[in-house]
Amino acid sequence: MKGIVLAGGTGTRLQPLTLVSSKQLAPIYDKPMVYYPLSVLMLADIDDILIIARPEEIELFRKLFGDGARLGMRIDYAAQEEPRGIADAFRVGADHIKGEDCALVLGDNLFHGAKLPTTLRKAARELRGCVLFGHQVAEPQHFGVAEIDTKGQLVSIEEKPEHPRSNLAIPGLYFFDSTVADIARGLRPSPRGELEITDVLRAYLAEGRADLVWLGRGVTWLDAGTHESLLDAGRFVRDIQHHQGTRLGCVEEIAMYMGFISADSCYELGAEMKGSPYGQYVMESAQAHRLNPAPAKFLEE
Ligand code: TTP
Repeated sequence: MKGIVLAGGTGTRLQPLTLVSSKQLAPIYDKPMVYYPLSVLMLADIDDILIIARPEEIELFRKLFGDGARLGMRIDYAAQEEPRGIADAFRVGADHIKGEDCALVLGDNLFHGAKLPTTLRKAARELRGCVLFGHQVAEPQHFGVAEIDTKGQLVSIEEKPEHPRSNLAIPGLYFFDSTVADIARGLRPSPRGELEITDVLRAYLAEGRADLVWLGRGVTWLDAGTHESLLDAGRFVRDIQHHQGTRLGCVEEIAMYMGFISADSCYELGAEMKGSPYGQYVMESAQAHRLNPAPAKFLEE
């Protein structure tokens, strides 16, 4: 399965932070925002990823991850000239997908939870069209909203409805089969002028090929698109890391546990940043893995 991190957009709500730099490179506590969505795709066992960004920011992302080889992955980059909407990812990324299944994650979304890796890999394995996720929120009217019937089957999808039919928001993470590029090619811009991801999801739903997976209470989902939510996300990461002694979105550690790189390579990546607590953590994690190469707790179940 291929992966796409959509990291373009205008970042209007985060101005002036986003005037000269990308929102997805803004710090969430100890690392750039893009580490979090990238790590979600890695946990789904995806090692071939396209990062889509604004043309002027592509080189910054490339500076961060190169061709991905250091993480035992392949990472490519593509420019989105204009923010034409989330579903534009499948047009910009058509060559990358090339007839394969594809996961899309928005570059400002953060997910955390013990069961998340298992949930993601199961969704990828059982894909029969598209999988979207549902997450209970207090104010669903700000999101895409999923309605389910009493058996948990998806019934309708609405974009930012005035009167939501449920409190299940649809987070920015989706799995699609290889027909997604064709579906996206047939889309027309919505009244607000964007190629809407909800229209893609609805096309699958109309064919009876859309499944909703409920993320449940064990998973936290944050999007860091406003000043408040950016600070909230930073505090959340800081608190979990501080109390659990682990790091969220640590791409070097995840690459090692997923078997993309060896413990030795992971150690070397950490050593390059040994002047920081993050680098020290990566080195310690690699050392622990050398002593006990059992799968990480977060990959069990
Ligand atoms: P949004 O938060 O909806 O848009 P934005 O990032 O431009 O921010 P604002 O509303 O403050 O102007 O986008 C969600 C994610 O999708 C975010 O990571 C940016 C990305 N995105 C693109 O890369 N291209 C697009 O055309 C759109 C609409 C979003």
